[in-house]
Amino acid sequence: MKALILSGGAGTRLRPLTFTNAKQLLPLANKPILFHIIEKLVKAGLRDVGIIVGDTREEVEKTVGNGDRWDVKIRYIHQPAPLGLAHAVKTASGFIGDNDFLMVLGDNVFSMELDALIKNFHSDRANSSLLLHRVDNPSQYGVAVVENAHIKRLVEKPREFISDLIITGVYVFDKSIFEAIDSIPPSPRGELEITDAIQKQLETGGRVTYGIIQGWWKDTGSLRDILEANRLILDEIDCDNKTLPKGDSEITGKILAGKNVVVKNSTIMGPVAIADDTMITNSFIGPYASIGRSARLNDCEVDNCIILENTRIDSIPRRISGSLIGRNVQIVSTRKRPHSNTFLVGDNSEIYL
Ligand code: TTP
Repeated sequence: MKALILSGGAGTRLRPLTFTNAKQLLPLANKPILFHIIEKLVKAGLRDVGIIVGDTREEVEKTVGNGDRWDVKIRYIHQPAPLGLAHAVKTASGFIGDNDFLMVLGDNVFSMELDALIKNFHSDRANSSLLLHRVDNPSQYGVAVVENAHIKRLVEKPREFISDLIITGVYVFDKSIFEAIDSIPPSPRGELEITDAIQKQLETGGRVTYGIIQGWWKDTGSLRDILEANRLILDEIDCDNKTLPKGDSEITGKILAGKNVVVKNSTIMGPVAIADDTMITNSFIGPYASIGRSARLNDCEVDNCIILENTRIDSIPRRISGSLIGRNVQIVSTRKRPHSNTFLVGDNSEIYL
């Protein structure tokens, strides 16, 4: 079985970060989302991986590489425009050939392993198998109506309750999905939708089965969800804080620390991830912060945040919380008069003072 990761798309909900970064490379506990996904594929025994890429192709290829670090073979497939998930699948037809394949959306993270879904796909002789998630508020999602271990119907954002099982971003397909894609028109938003293709399989007598998420699952398309995914992954890190020199600082909880981290006169309360070459002085780093490489944090308080590399935060009196801060950012209080706020901020930024 092959694997296909969808890492094209526009990422409009995470602008301005996605003007300069692929959202699939945003780090959770200082590891890019795509790496978390590839690790799941490797654990499920999948080693032939295709990655759909779009405008951020160069950055994705440079960061992920040829797969050697996981002992997998990675092929990049360029989707010229983000014309929908089913369009992305169609673009990958040369790579997939006649093989069955597991597809993961490149912004999805989850705690469960994928072996059972693959095993059941084979034993049920399914044409498609979807990973579903039981939620309290299904009305904003695509939902699946199920009966006797099979999916009967898929409905996009149902107005009335029909099922509490929503479609996640993990699917297994056989080659019949290509025929289904060829027979659907673009949706009103102009995309070829994968749910329409699966619905077409159902209408033409295809067998569509499902698995249910065990543990947690997150689509990291929005700020709220990406911070929650960071918290969920930090909760699961398996390490202690022995690697971090304590000195005059108070360090408690689980700390995932890189190399050359300097901490002085600070309090760090895990779970926290701190990448290589970071310096933290006179600060409080609270639970669920992921601090990127070469960051400089002085005289500040930070919790529940993702801070990317090479960013400097200095002398900020109020705690910074619930934030996603990009690369090479400076957030500095100058203490000089006049006491004005000075910003150099890109399009679609959000600042709450
Ligand atoms: P989405 O989150 O549905 O779309 P998006 O990434 O364009 O984001 P936004 O809604 O904020 O504009 O995409 C899910 C995943 O699938 C994501 O990793 C991008 C990828 N994708 C493709 O590779 N090709 C496509 O044509 C589309 C629509 C998405």
